[in-house]
Amino acid sequence: MNKVLITGASGLLGRSLVEKFTDNGWFVFAHYYNNRGAFSGECEWLRGDFSTLEETRMFIEHNKEKLMQCTALINNYGPITYKSTGDITSSDLNSDLHGNLIVANEITSFLLRSGNLHSVVNIGFEGVGEIRPYRKILPHAIAKAGLQLLTISNESEFPDVNFSMVSPSSLTGGEYRKVSGEYAEPESIAEEIFKNVSGGDHNV
Ligand SMILES: NC(=O)c1ccc[n+]([C@@H]2O[C@H](COP(=O)([O-])OP(=O)(O)OC[C@H]3O[C@@H](n4cnc5c(N)ncnc54)[C@H](OP(=O)(O)O)[C@@H]3O)[C@@H](O)[C@H]2O)c1
Repeated sequence: MNKVLITGASGLLGRSLVEKFTDNGWFVFAHYYNNRGAFSGECEWLRGDFSTLEETRMFIEHNKEKLMQCTALINNYGPITYKSTGDITSSDLNSDLHGNLIVANEITSFLLRSGNLHSVVNIGFEGVGEIRPYRKILPHAIAKAGLQLLTISNESEFPDVNFSMVSPSSLTGGEYRKVSGEYAEPESIAEEIFKNVSGGDHNV
């Protein structure tokens, strides 16, 4: 049975991902922090605090036997700081870089070294990597642009592993309210991610 690790699996997109993969015959190691998911099919919930590098490493160390069974990884955990650009601090930058880039890199690197990875999906956001001013989400935009560069670079460095980045617009049911434009349904983004993993699409 194929196995996948999904970080932030108890969140909005994460819950759809757990359902999508289990519905299609995968076993899911589903990471959560405070809100263990209700789903109890072919899935095991793994608790982890990713607030610091040390705690992230403790999660990996504690679960390494399970994580090493995964052929796919979805770096879905990706917190966001909403603040006007004039108010952001270096701590905000540090925090979004850590949550979106460092945690993903730490888990990916471990599985590239020790596991049997075939596929990695990183999650961006609509317009990731655009060079323009950001009014409310600058730390997030910087971190996701870094994640995009990491994805492209890993894709080139590890040609046997399918790296891709899926970059949805704001999700229906999420906290972020757009000024204009369409929302994406978590279920349809989960479907797209599932296709990337199962079909081997390269899509950065
Ligand atoms: N929401 C959107 O509109 C949107 C749009 C574009 C892209 N995205 C991207 O899509 C991905 C998923 O976003 P989402 O909105 O579905 O997420 P979400 O609903 O906000 O879920 C947050 C997740 O992070 C976990 N978490 C919180 N604090 C943590 C900590 N200290 N350590 C470890 N885990 C922690 C939560 O676990 P517990 O609940 O168990 O505590 C939960 O699983 C992210 O990469 C995001 O950037 C989101």
